[in-house]
Amino acid sequence: MRDRVGQDGTEQGGTARCSNPHDRTGVTRRGLGGLALGAAAGALARPALAQGAPLRVGLMLPYSGTFAQLGENITTAFEMHLAERGGKLGGRAVTVIKLDDASDPAAAPGNVNRLLNRDKADVLVGTVHSGVVMALVQAAREKGVPLLIPNAGNVAASRDLCSASVFRTSFSNWQPGFGMGKALAAMGVKKAVWVTWDYAAGKEQGEGFRDGLKAGGAELVQVLTLPFPETNFQPILAQLPGLGVEAVGAFFAGGGAVQFVRDYAAAGLRDKLPLCGSGFLTEGTLAAQGAAAEGIRTALHYGDGLDIPKNAVFRAAFKAKAGREADVYAVQGYDAAQLLAAGVDAVKGDMDADAALFAAMRGARIDSPRGAFTLSASHNPVQNIYLREARGGENKVIGVAAEALADPGTGCKLA
Ligand code: PHB
Repeated sequence: MRDRVGQDGTEQGGTARCSNPHDRTGVTRRGLGGLALGAAAGALARPALAQGAPLRVGLMLPYSGTFAQLGENITTAFEMHLAERGGKLGGRAVTVIKLDDASDPAAAPGNVNRLLNRDKADVLVGTVHSGVVMALVQAAREKGVPLLIPNAGNVAASRDLCSASVFRTSFSNWQPGFGMGKALAAMGVKKAVWVTWDYAAGKEQGEGFRDGLKAGGAELVQVLTLPFPETNFQPILAQLPGLGVEAVGAFFAGGGAVQFVRDYAAAGLRDKLPLCGSGFLTEGTLAAQGAAAEGIRTALHYGDGLDIPKNAVFRAAFKAKAGREADVYAVQGYDAAQLLAAGVDAVKGDMDADAALFAAMRGARIDSPRGAFTLSASHNPVQNIYLREARGGENKVIGVAAEALADPGTGCKLA
């Protein structure tokens, strides 16, 4: 794990392994829903907070490992929106603190602790991995610190562990899986298998896939897994032809997705068993996947060529800043900054006004490159899930797999 130094005056994050992960003393925020301490105790424990002082935003994201590129794109687009606002939110300058979580769930509690206790973050933004995000959700629930999730789809964050202080600008794992299953059934497929890493994101996207297939009268017959972030796919690939299915659905992302799509083609399966999946399978990876990705259909809340004016402007600005094409991760990072801006502007930078801050974020309409969206009651985007096909290095939108899809939000009770 490496430390990071921002290029533009932002602070350096720490290494991921550190002190006792259970030590959260010294940071006490105002209570929410009876989960944390009361207003007076929180106010006393906080550093003297001059509201004119910079707003400290802690970015906890992967900058190493298989999801490194995802973290980079989220960060670049988040900072791009801050720059569009002159580096200020609610009249306050913003200091961004970056910490590499390396997609390591074991190190996550310690990393969150660092951002809150050492770096004195006022707001948390993170992360990519569904296991790692749970430490951020726990901190937000216990301490009332605002958390914006710019990727990780763990359904618990929108269901039984939803919270007044937790907001997502990405998706719940169930959403793209459901869209893909529904679209596949509509194409006439009756039996499919799901292949993925064995952790929350793969499992929950598979559940969405199963539900979508079922809604269209089709069946998920089996789920095949390997541990995250392993990439020895050969034992799984060898089993696929014998399963009696007409299609293979998959969740992999980042470096793992590049490898899986290449190995699938190299195993001679591409023309025998159509490969599809949640859109992460071909997102930000097409250049590296090359011809192996050609024709793969996926479902996601974004597509490169989405004919929306905001998308064209966003993609041009991102390319100019980053020197590479935007992808869904960039979109989610950009929208996290937009959502934070909606809240902080509404309270004119007064982060103690958390009821008003959260109300403004809850009610925001985000002018996203994916198309404008609002949040569901459990603070997750209500959004179209597009059907895309990989063609000539682009994820071309070929239809809408599920319109204005909300996560069911089962078990979410917000105070
Ligand atoms: C997740 O762990 O929730 C996750 C990671 C990478 C993705 C999508 C979801 O591309």
